[in-house]
Amino acid sequence: MHLSLKTLLLLSLPLFSNGERFVRFISTDNKEYYGDAILPANTTDASKSVQARVIQGDILGDFTVTKQVKPIKKLLAPLPNERVRTVRCVGFNYVAHSEEANVTIPQWPILFYKPWTALNTPSDPIPITAGYQTQGNFTSTMDYETELVVVIKKKAFNITDDEALDHVLGYTVGHDVSHRGWQIDRGGQPQPQYSMGKGADGWAPWGPAIVSTSLIPDPQTLNLWTKVNGVMQQNDTTANMIFGVKHLVSFFSMGITLLPGDVIFTGTPSGVNLGKTNPQWLVDGDVVEVGLENVGTCTNALKYV
Ligand SMILES: *[C@@H]1O[C@H](CO)[C@@H](O)[C@H](O)[C@H]1NC(C)=O
Ligand SMILES: *[C@@H]1O[C@H](CO)[C@@H](O)[C@H](O)[C@H]1NC(C)=O
Ligand SMILES: *[C@@H]1O[C@H](CO)[C@@H](O)[C@H](O)[C@H]1NC(C)=O
Ligand SMILES: *[C@@H]1O[C@H](CO)[C@@H](O)[C@H](O)[C@H]1NC(C)=O
Ligand SMILES: *[C@@H]1O[C@H](CO)[C@@H](O)[C@H](O)[C@H]1NC(C)=O
Repeated sequence: MHLSLKTLLLLSLPLFSNGERFVRFISTDNKEYYGDAILPANTTDASKSVQARVIQGDILGDFTVTKQVKPIKKLLAPLPNERVRTVRCVGFNYVAHSEEANVTIPQWPILFYKPWTALNTPSDPIPITAGYQTQGNFTSTMDYETELVVVIKKKAFNITDDEALDHVLGYTVGHDVSHRGWQIDRGGQPQPQYSMGKGADGWAPWGPAIVSTSLIPDPQTLNLWTKVNGVMQQNDTTANMIFGVKHLVSFFSMGITLLPGDVIFTGTPSGVNLGKTNPQWLVDGDVVEVGLENVGTCTNALKYV
């Protein structure tokens, strides 16, 4: 077969034009770039990528994946905090997690918000301020939660389940860092609250890449896990969500507009400390890895500040 160089170039263009693993990174020139991560041969974990094709333009609008390849010195969160105008989070979206927490299995999705100051990179420390550390007989009860995160690319209002994925750029993994004491014990009775227990600065690491819906056409087939200091604590599949991604996006759009850059943390599977007979609450220096199949990992250490 004889293909001219020109034909080969034309054939190869579509392969690079759409973007598959959107990252934001600092390169060796100390400048910030958006890119399409190039995976090392061995892995689909974008946190292991050492280079990316530079993206010009806006990944939430018009952009081009260029042929320029830059080294990755440090991966940032896939979007700057201020581009993520709303961080939605889902409570109790897996049956086994609802059971371990001894709550009723929800009939409708449970929604809460984190402020965008909670967002964090896939590798930086998770700050724990004095109010969240042990104070006298009030023990610090820091917990981990791994979650699939949906990234909205197109405004969504009053859409159906079938329309939902047209509004999604892709998926990444997030860590819904949680302090059970401020969430539940000091959260008010009979109905606890989420914000004081989950909304502190840096308590939502996310990344390492937004993997496009073209690479992940069905988000309900992915393994997700948590390791604490290297030991597996959660390991489940997104197939076990009570409300899948399509329904969450359409349900939340019933009266609230979802905007480009908004993210949805879709809830955690079982295996968290809450509900364990001998919980090993996270303390200063503990390293938590949250992972999602075909996407990658965020690895962040708790840091008392
Ligand atoms: C792939 O992983 C194996 C085992 O971890 C390692 O020995 C090998 O060098 C890796 N290959 C590449 C291309 O990174
Ligand atoms: C679970 O909740 C029920 C009803 O609120 C309560 O009666 C029961 O004691 C709880 N069990 C545990 C283990 O907390
Ligand atoms: C914890 O300490 C506070 C005072 O700091 C006290 O009022 C409370 O009774 C103590 N609770 C327990 C369970 O010991
Ligand atoms: C919502 O969509 C339905 C059709 O799916 C339509 O009948 C209704 O008027 C829409 N409501 C608003 C407020 O746009
Ligand atoms: C996680 O669970 C999946 C599905 O049950 C299994 O294939 C995989 O080996 C588990 N991973 C680890 C590291 O235990």
